[in-house]
Amino acid sequence: MHTTIHKGKQAAALKALEFVTPDSILGVGTGSTVNIFIDELAAKGVRLEGAVASSEATAERLRSHGFEVLDLNYTGGISLYIDGADEANPALQLIKGGGAALTREKIIAAASKEFVCIADSSKAVDVLGEFPLPVEVIPMARSYVARELMALGSDPEYREAPRTDNGNQILDCIGFSIDDPISLEQQINNIAGVVSVGLFAQRPADVLLLGDEQGHVVTQAREV
Ligand code: 5RP
Repeated sequence: MHTTIHKGKQAAALKALEFVTPDSILGVGTGSTVNIFIDELAAKGVRLEGAVASSEATAERLRSHGFEVLDLNYTGGISLYIDGADEANPALQLIKGGGAALTREKIIAAASKEFVCIADSSKAVDVLGEFPLPVEVIPMARSYVARELMALGSDPEYREAPRTDNGNQILDCIGFSIDDPISLEQQINNIAGVVSVGLFAQRPADVLLLGDEQGHVVTQAREV
């Protein structure tokens, strides 16, 4: 990873530790920024009752540090979710799913009282959509969904990658200029065969921690 980007991710991940209540149940996202956060959590000796993981990779990393990984079906609501993003706009709406974990990320974000997003400052944009928007699809619906996404104005590309943790496939949508994120999220959710879209607009982040190459962090909180 580019060193300046790594420094920004690390700064945001360290800042996020301040939001964690010891001995609580924590929702934990997926990606390189979250990996730094998990490692720092362990290095600082923070104890948790347990964690709910948004991917098998995150669950494995949490377990490797001795954290207990819990099933969301038995935890009830979660007070805090920490996760990264591929893009964030000033309303703290996000594009996520570069790491293919969008569906479980969306579920945990929905089940959490507070969502703190951690990212390096290169992820901040005015308008979402330069990063290809990931859509998780049921495999048999892939071509149909791709045609519907083209009708909505994008150029979907099939991600040549192993199946998601849920056994599905990803279409990365190039070319959306997302002026109305909530409306686009709803339209894509309405296509039969879509499992979820990596647009986090109806449930944006509550707090965005953006780290820069000097190691400074800008904190943005959503107005409610
Ligand atoms: C995974 C995600 C990640 O949060 C997103 O891709 C950012 O990753 P990174 O921290 O590696 O830049 O949505 O599905």
